[in-house]
Amino acid sequence: MSLELKDIQSGVLRPRPSPYAATYILLRIDDRQPGRELMRRAGAVVNSAANPTSKTGDAWLSIALTFQGLKALGVPQESLDSFPPEFQRGMAARADVLGDTGESAPEHWEKPLGTSEVHAVVTALAPNQERLEEVLARGRKALEEIPGIKPIWRQDCYALPNDKEHFGYKDGIGQPLIEGSGVPGNNPNEQPLKAGEFVLGHLDEMGNNLFPKPDALGRNGSFAVFRKLQQRVGAFRRFLKSNSTSPDEQEFLAAKMMGRWRSGAPLARCPLHDDPAVGMDRSKHNDFMYKEDDPRGLKTPIESHLRRMNPRDSDVIGIPRLHRMLRRGTVYGPPLPEGQLEDDGVDRGFMFAFIGAHIDRQFEFIQSQWLNSGEFAGRGDAKDPIAGACNGTETFTIPERPIRRTIEGMPRFVVTRGGEYAFLPSITALKWLADLPG
Ligand code: HEM
Repeated sequence: MSLELKDIQSGVLRPRPSPYAATYILLRIDDRQPGRELMRRAGAVVNSAANPTSKTGDAWLSIALTFQGLKALGVPQESLDSFPPEFQRGMAARADVLGDTGESAPEHWEKPLGTSEVHAVVTALAPNQERLEEVLARGRKALEEIPGIKPIWRQDCYALPNDKEHFGYKDGIGQPLIEGSGVPGNNPNEQPLKAGEFVLGHLDEMGNNLFPKPDALGRNGSFAVFRKLQQRVGAFRRFLKSNSTSPDEQEFLAAKMMGRWRSGAPLARCPLHDDPAVGMDRSKHNDFMYKEDDPRGLKTPIESHLRRMNPRDSDVIGIPRLHRMLRRGTVYGPPLPEGQLEDDGVDRGFMFAFIGAHIDRQFEFIQSQWLNSGEFAGRGDAKDPIAGACNGTETFTIPERPIRRTIEGMPRFVVTRGGEYAFLPSITALKWLADLPG
């Protein structure tokens, strides 16, 4: 069965282009009438997921609404009440669950992130700057010249060479296969996931079909989790250096922390040496499982970022298929010059966008149980070595023969600068919102 792709926003299903240029703009809706005009115009300019693999469709504009945004539009109370509680509360209110404490706590976030002023998130994504400008011009004409709608924040993102992120790893590899989406996945060992994991109004992996009401608002929508994550690249490089005796060892440690070499080649296929050709090869770089080949993590450590974020068929508490999500991360800020070990005070990192129909069982579960805890795999309170909320007391264990290696005193390399939970309405829902009475 095919999904109603014409009704689903492109940003929900379509993987981001590589390379890419992206811009995120936050809007405040001062009054419900201009807000509804915004929805009307958005219905005409956002791209749908129809023809998800066509070349021309790789530049798109999408719009998402926070709970405060739905309220600003005057969505009736019974509809508002039908949204999941964590979405209603918003990301800042979930800080304890997410490990956004200390310097990552909402009181230190970049304003207006996490405040009740953020109502809509407009995302423009394209394969290059020139096409991004075209998308933005289309959006600006339609969305920004409405009195009562104020752009209040903007983040521009540019791909680094070879789709690397600031710590130097190739990103944007894993792509789950979604039933009826027409978008190919790249792990042939993974059964397609039910559409309801990502698109509301369809059966999910648990056999449920719960979505915000009425149908015209909820069906074919999804949720997006936006997070601005600052990366301490100097601290990361110093850590690799001080825990290795040679540049080769540094690369090996970096690979053990991620589960992939920086080229993208997975340790599961290239356990001892990097093979950049495998890193580039779409038919190989995500074609692996863990249970039979590497149950103890001798190749891909159980505590590595990759294996934590998607344990695949590993023996862990819970069912990994219930905790999958789509990643649309883009890099912001200039790279720290090669070889520099001190952070220079320039803001750089990752604008994360996670897409899924279940914020609690997907993003919040992964963030709290797999990223910031090790219990699920019998690893106590060890946290993710790349992006965990470490405070200098955690360990990172690399299974090795004859004895494992444990690194103590893991520092925190990633700090949350802010974020929002947002609802990605269907094209039908944009019209429904535009036509709200009263
Ligand atoms: C700045 C922080 C982060 C960096 C630099 C980072 C980097 C990466 C990289 C380079 C990959 C490998 C590329 C791929 O397999 O597609 C990856 C995979 C992944 N990351 Fe992260 N990540 C970060 C934070 C997070 C967070 C906070 C989450 C979730 C809460 C997350 C979830 C995932 C998932 C689900 C995968 C794919 C795993 C798989 O399917 O095997 N990442 N990340």
